[in-house]
Amino acid sequence: MTEIERSLQELAPARQNLPRHIAIIMDGNGRWAKLRGMPRVFGHQRGVDAVRGVVRAASVWGIEALTLFAFSEENWGRPRAEVSAIFKILNQYIMKEREELKRQNVRLRVMGDLTRLPEQTATLIRDAVSYLSECSGMTLNVGISYGSRSEIINSCRSIAQGVREGTIEPDEIDETLFESRLDTAGLPDPDLVIRTSGEQRVSNFMLWQISYAEFLFSPVFWPDFNEEIFAEAITEFQRRARRFGKIPDETELASVRSNRDSAPVDTKLHQAQTSSSAPSDLHA
Ligand code: FPP
Repeated sequence: MTEIERSLQELAPARQNLPRHIAIIMDGNGRWAKLRGMPRVFGHQRGVDAVRGVVRAASVWGIEALTLFAFSEENWGRPRAEVSAIFKILNQYIMKEREELKRQNVRLRVMGDLTRLPEQTATLIRDAVSYLSECSGMTLNVGISYGSRSEIINSCRSIAQGVREGTIEPDEIDETLFESRLDTAGLPDPDLVIRTSGEQRVSNFMLWQISYAEFLFSPVFWPDFNEEIFAEAITEFQRRARRFGKIPDETELASVRSNRDSAPVDTKLHQAQTSSSAPSDLHA
């Protein structure tokens, strides 16, 4: 175990009631850079440091799956120079991080329309996914050229095709079958969705999968999102009572009330950060 991994263990949230799957909408790279008088791409570059920290932390803390929304279908509408800069950053991340992910025993998968990606990125992704396919630790799922409505339509198309070919009876169409045709097939649904930068929207992200997720919106811009803030987010999740539409019993209610009353009010997770905020020491 590395020095950084040891310090991460000290930050680790409680082991009970850990979210199995955390999904993050990484937002605010551009504004983070602008605040510092820098071009937007600088924010994306620094965003990768935050990605590295969060992946390592989630893996050390025993999270089963971590989904990161790196590039949406809608992001294709950004200026060409920014789009190609983001793909260059992604390429560098994959090339640089492959070995480290293997060392951390992290499996890689992607969701989204890979056919639209630059050939080099698509190849790097395919190779990295296959290189890490035997890893048995955390699954890192990256949304690239991803839009949830398209994913849902693709699932419908694939089922409709099965019906046409006679391999699926309309009566057999249920949630399990539908989910098995989504890009996330086999992953548990996210328990916790975090969106940074103060925006409180879902933005076409995992619309089917987040039906019962807890949401956490933080004003922190993505490049400032560090392991300490991540641990706070998980701790806040652990204080929530998830009811899945049912009524909690008295014991559960009492525990939620006491958790809520003892919750710290002034965490970094809920503080907007300014240009003077220092990066995390853990970002090696
Ligand atoms: C949102 O900030 C960020 C993106 C659209 C790109 C995210 C990409 C990375 C962090 C780099 C690569 C990712 C991985 C997984 C290695 P924004 O540009 O929308 O910021 P703004 O809302 O302030 O304009």
